[in-house]
Amino acid sequence: MITINVNGESQRLDIDPGTPLLWVVRENLGLTGTKFGCGIAQCGACTVHLNGQPIRACVTPVAAADGQSVTTIEGVAGDGDMHPVQEAWIAEQVPQCGYCQSGQIMSAVALLANNPNPDDDAINTAMRGNVCRCGTYPRVRRAIKRAAAAQTAGVQIYQPAAQPEVRNG
Ligand code: FES
Repeated sequence: MITINVNGESQRLDIDPGTPLLWVVRENLGLTGTKFGCGIAQCGACTVHLNGQPIRACVTPVAAADGQSVTTIEGVAGDGDMHPVQEAWIAEQVPQCGYCQSGQIMSAVALLANNPNPDDDAINTAMRGNVCRCGTYPRVRRAIKRAAAAQTAGVQIYQPAAQPEVRNG
């Protein structure tokens, strides 16, 4: 039996310990925001946090997370609506096709947790493992800087618009 805290909830899994964590997250727990990209830890689409550090879930056996804490894109906001990085992503309109973006955000969140004011070199180093076939790298960099500034100032970047009233008929 494997026990993992995922996004703040304890999960007990009767599963082959060699099963990739990515399979567990997506198939067993239904958290499909984390994507399968290359399957060999080269693209970053499957990035989740293990005890706050970004890892590639496609090559991490679930046994490595036994007794540990995993955070996926679904849990990155914590109790809030969005993490400041997610707000900055919207403000900078980062995603194109979107496939790589949850992995990009997970790496960016981990970066800012360790370095609240990263320069271009620090951003490039931290994000090097996240490939974007749509070429959103300049926007990723801008969004990380925007999130860093907002976090430092303690301000919210993005206020979700009020939902329009839906009328029947
Ligand atoms: Fe399409 Fe990154 S937004 S792969």
